[in-house]
Amino acid sequence: MNRITSKIDVGSAEFAENRDIYLGELSTLRTRQQWVIDGGERRQQSIKRHLDRGKIMVRDRIDLVTDDNTSFLEFSTLSAYGQYDDEAPGAGVVTGIGIVHGVPWVFIANDATVKGGSLLPMSIKKHVRAQEIAEENRLGIIYLVDSGGAFLPLQDEIFPDKDHFGGSFYRQARLSAQGLPQLAVVLGGCTAGGAYVPALSDEVIMVEGIGRIFLGGPPIVKAALGEIIEPDDLGGAVLHTRISGVSDYMASSEREAYGKLREICETTNQRRVDQRDGWLDWVEPEPPAYPPEEIYGIVSADDRIPFDATEIIARIVDGSRFAAFKPEWGESIVCGFARIWGHLVGIISNNGIIFSESALKATHFIELCEQRRVPLVFLQNTSGYMVGSDSEKGGIAKNGAKMVAAVANATVPRYTVLIGGSYGAGNYGMCGRGFNPRFLFAWPNSRIATMAADTAETVLVDIRVGGLKGADTTDEELAEIRAHIRGQYETQSDPYYATSRLWDDGLIDPVDTRNALGLSLALAARHDKPAPGPGLVYRM
Ligand code: COA
Repeated sequence: MNRITSKIDVGSAEFAENRDIYLGELSTLRTRQQWVIDGGERRQQSIKRHLDRGKIMVRDRIDLVTDDNTSFLEFSTLSAYGQYDDEAPGAGVVTGIGIVHGVPWVFIANDATVKGGSLLPMSIKKHVRAQEIAEENRLGIIYLVDSGGAFLPLQDEIFPDKDHFGGSFYRQARLSAQGLPQLAVVLGGCTAGGAYVPALSDEVIMVEGIGRIFLGGPPIVKAALGEIIEPDDLGGAVLHTRISGVSDYMASSEREAYGKLREICETTNQRRVDQRDGWLDWVEPEPPAYPPEEIYGIVSADDRIPFDATEIIARIVDGSRFAAFKPEWGESIVCGFARIWGHLVGIISNNGIIFSESALKATHFIELCEQRRVPLVFLQNTSGYMVGSDSEKGGIAKNGAKMVAAVANATVPRYTVLIGGSYGAGNYGMCGRGFNPRFLFAWPNSRIATMAADTAETVLVDIRVGGLKGADTTDEELAEIRAHIRGQYETQSDPYYATSRLWDDGLIDPVDTRNALGLSLALAARHDKPAPGPGLVYRM
């Protein structure tokens, strides 16, 4: 594969300005992530109480379980950001992928310093999403349980529906049946619904003095039966390990429990992260020829000014080598083959608006990847499909639909990164959340909405003027509508608004994109040969 020749002038004033602005965005990202970890002022008391009880902070727990000198890929650190009066940093649960004895595991670990680790709507969504990731990527799950169960004031948003609390237990039972181990360490109260996380696990460890499991806690038992009992006598580690058998092992400290957990992991017969099944072409990796940090200066500070997708690809893929497909046709989409950490991939990326030719080219390329069993990586940066009479005459609706249908039906693993705008049906054709990519990461400069704020403002004002109430609408009212719509779209297309609601698996520094995709591909290469696709390639 030929090496991309970059046309970026890294010494230009424009590059320096873009980079400075991007570094500012990254500083905001890090400050906000740190706030989730440290807790901000309001959480200091709960953190102190947690530590005074001799308990370990949630991320340190994960660190004690995972192998030394390995990284933890944390998902959606900023979930719930700006919601629940900012009283639920990270939605009170940490999820991600960590390595234990060389094997990748999904972790679901409650943060007891956030509302007693109880599960708010976003916590449930995050918990269920982590289970979905485990299923798609054939990973076992380690539950570090320290949770007050359902967050009772919002029970209607977490209890009854599909993929609410019940859905998480449904998934847990089915994941175990698929041979994906479910292991739990009980590090705090597990009451009522919360008791089922350990109870449904394949093996359970309880930590003496802090771990408790009961269907009804002491206050409920007192109210229902008049029985007065201490929490440990009702559901402590001794009771459950020696009498009820709800727990399989007891540990006298958290550290001892993590040692035992690591020993159990060794017996689960799971594939190591570097064990390849052989279905996906792999060669020794080489770093990109251009420094990934240069992405900061390439991404335009003004999101109305496009940036060249090929320049981004050059800073993500091995050796900056890229075999572009149909480079002289449908140029607003860049397609081609490359390698990421040695794995062969097909990349589809936008260079602006999607025209009919670009949609057809992408469809053709997806068919090639399907036929050749090559995973697809989508780098989204588009304002959507082209509108206008020329475009409609050219059949943009059916051509765009071909691309959307090809993406929806592709059986090879698909991964999406929002590197810029994700607007309108461009979000669908470029494998947005609704199209179930295995992972969806977003850069802190990304924007996601049906359309950009200024377009939405114009559309809605035009609708009002042309509608039944049009004649009675004053100029002041129109100005008010304009301001309201603009404000709403600007707020809702913000990447922090999106990540807070788990529309992605987390905001990442562009420099980490290569590693995040590399791990994702390594997971697929372990044993995930995709089912055969149709194999036919229709020339578009
Ligand atoms: N719903 C709503 N809020 C809950 C909660 C729940 N299930 N469990 C805990 N919280 C909140 C508390 O109200 C408190 O909020 P605050 O910080 O705003 O004051 C915070 O979490 C910490 O709770 P606290 O009881 O002070 O902490 P603790 O460490 O002493 O005890 C638990 C933690 C989880 C053992 C205990 O809170 C508990 O038993 N919770 C209720 C469990 C339950 O009955 N769940 C039923 C779920 S189906």
